[in-house]
Amino acid sequence: MESMEHGMAQLILDSLPSPVLMSDLHGRLIFVNRAVEDDLGVERGELLGRPLIEALYQGRKFDRRGKYRSALMETLETGRSFNARFMEVKTVFHQLPRFFLVDTFFVHSSGGQLLGACAVYHDIFRHRELLKRAVMSRLTTISEQFETIYAFAEAIGARDLYTMGHSEKVAEYARLIAEALGLQEKEVDLAYICGIVHDVGKIGVPENILNKPGPLLPEEFVQITCHPDKGAAILSHISWLEQVVPVVLAHHERYDGRGYPRGLKGEEIPLLSRILSVADAFDAMTSDRSYRRALPVPVAINELKRNAGTQFDPRIVEVFVQVLLEYQF
Ligand SMILES: [Fe+2]
Repeated sequence: MESMEHGMAQLILDSLPSPVLMSDLHGRLIFVNRAVEDDLGVERGELLGRPLIEALYQGRKFDRRGKYRSALMETLETGRSFNARFMEVKTVFHQLPRFFLVDTFFVHSSGGQLLGACAVYHDIFRHRELLKRAVMSRLTTISEQFETIYAFAEAIGARDLYTMGHSEKVAEYARLIAEALGLQEKEVDLAYICGIVHDVGKIGVPENILNKPGPLLPEEFVQITCHPDKGAAILSHISWLEQVVPVVLAHHERYDGRGYPRGLKGEEIPLLSRILSVADAFDAMTSDRSYRRALPVPVAINELKRNAGTQFDPRIVEVFVQVLLEYQF
């Protein structure tokens, strides 16, 4: 009976879409479910029995800021468990950081003996409500109005699925850059919000132009170039988004002055717009589109570097590349 239950438990855990890992009291992996194999692209045989910090984090327990890289290890060593904790996860098997809500807890035998700790990773991009909650709790300055900006993200996403996920990723990259530049918390939050709403003006661009796979005709390109103006006009009606308006307006300006809609140059372009421009380009290059496959991250990094000083602010490219390298390319 017990082994039947055991087999059933294994089947259920392997059917769960969320990665589940368990380690013994010494930090050695003693269980991973199929979602872990899928997420990391490795067989469980390569992980089980190994110290999790060595197997997943190249032996590096802490990040540059001295925080634990692994929630499971943190729980084991501090005795604290986590409930829907928002975390960036970047193991040796991930090309880019992924964002999860993580639960951790201790596991006891039926006799009450402590066996180890377990972690469950909920993918926030699969759980939109959870994402909303997570970001609201993380935004320090304006959480109560977050509903409004999320409504914008939904409005854009309703027309163009690529733009939806794209806005969220641009927002996360912009936040990482702002943080690495040492901006104040309020500005870091603002960078995230600008990322979410930066393409809201695409609501005013006809769908056949937005989703056109081939090159655009000159008159179609003119329609596209209107989206920063349209976005700024829409957002200007919301008083608490006042600071976002100039950033959205300038997110397609280029450092060398050859961008649109105003042809602003260098420091004339708001700092957050310069950040968005790098984040936006990086995500566009590293995402699959209907007309081409995603570029590998190192190729996208080279493209950013090649265009530093012309399209992009070189200081921001440098900082972003450092952030990406910190995630162990
Ligand atoms: Fe845009």
